[in-house]
Amino acid sequence: MLSVEDNELLTKVGPGSPMGDLLRRFWFPAMLEEEIAAPDSPPVKLRLLGEDLIAFKDTDGRIGILDAYCPHRRVHLYFGRNEECGLRCVYHGWKFDVDGNCVDMPSEPEETNFAHKVKQTSYPAVARGGMVWIYMGPKEKIPALPDFEWAYLPQMQRTSTKRLQQCNWAQAVEGGIDSSHISFLHSSTDAQFTANKNLPRRNKYLGIDRHPVFDVRDVDYGVLISARRNGEEDSYYWRITQCLMPFYQMIPPVVPEDDTSKASYTGHAWVPIDDENTWTWTFSANPHRDFTPKEAEISGGAGGMWGPIDENYRPVQNRDNNYMLDRVAQKNDTFTGISGIPNQDAAVQESMGPIVDRNREYLGQSDSAIIAWRRRIIEMAKNLSAGEEPAEAHHPEWYNVRSCSTLLRRDEDWQEGTAWLRAGGEVPKAAE
Ligand code: FES
Ligand SMILES: [Fe+2]
Repeated sequence: MLSVEDNELLTKVGPGSPMGDLLRRFWFPAMLEEEIAAPDSPPVKLRLLGEDLIAFKDTDGRIGILDAYCPHRRVHLYFGRNEECGLRCVYHGWKFDVDGNCVDMPSEPEETNFAHKVKQTSYPAVARGGMVWIYMGPKEKIPALPDFEWAYLPQMQRTSTKRLQQCNWAQAVEGGIDSSHISFLHSSTDAQFTANKNLPRRNKYLGIDRHPVFDVRDVDYGVLISARRNGEEDSYYWRITQCLMPFYQMIPPVVPEDDTSKASYTGHAWVPIDDENTWTWTFSANPHRDFTPKEAEISGGAGGMWGPIDENYRPVQNRDNNYMLDRVAQKNDTFTGISGIPNQDAAVQESMGPIVDRNREYLGQSDSAIIAWRRRIIEMAKNLSAGEEPAEAHHPEWYNVRSCSTLLRRDEDWQEGTAWLRAGGEVPKAAE
């Protein structure tokens, strides 16, 4: 449970809000690189942290992300012309480069021209890992990008997708780090489970032991979460996830075979569009080898395991059609009757309303990771308001980790036993 004040602090991200200020200290994914793939291609509307923005790639291939509204008379620059190294407003022809400089003001005669005095808000943007990353904080505090291993891998070894989620970012994060729901929300019915003897071993443990024992540790990048389930007679099945500040998560490998050291892994970023909408980013990576075409299709394609989305990245199964809930399937097949893991997640998270009232919850032992993440991020926001910068933003190397799932002997320490699986690979040195 949170106080009404802390819930407000946690969820509001607009300019000038304490949490908005904190999130603006970090680089994060803004859009897919393919949305503005070609120089001089059409500008694209963006909305992030409650700010309307416009993104474009200029003639020289540089990426610009500017305040969406022309500083002359506030026309939306979406209607602009992307030409000759700048975006030109179609109302009176003012033109802006990727840094927000007004480079042409053709509506004013030379003697009253004040182009040099006009500066449009612009945010630094960098392409990496198939995404465009943005930094929306004070220029003098700009850190290096986080060293996520997956963002450096060659294209054949990674995928990234985004989906619209119609609720506040914090309840999406909490849904992601809530490891205990997997045994319910994403499970098959008991009948279905018994009928299918060929389920991967990982799923077997998740299905048999529905009361995992959680161990949650505060670590440098955020929260390290282990969930212990009974494995074979002499072993435990461990599922280790990381929650990296402010809104990233790493998810253990989805592999039917036993060799977890060669496995791919998945992760999410929940980037606030505004207080009531979120981009749910999903990335998949295999640091050891290329994805097979089938794996690439499953993890990256819009029709893959993440389910179909429309041209605006909104899932086809959404709250307007109750996520296409099928009551017959719910009786005989899956726990929810909703197909697709992300649709199941979105259904429960969006059903809480745009911003859940955390003053009316009852939390249990299985919510310990959520409690730890909330405590940490609220403290970070309060500290920043008091003048203390978030160390996480300035240590990109902390972010080079992998999630894992594995069996360990019952007497083994999970942190020691999984350390080699959680270490990230080589990434280029941060150029700060
Ligand atoms: S409103 Fe954009 S140039 Fe006038
Ligand atoms: Fe889930």
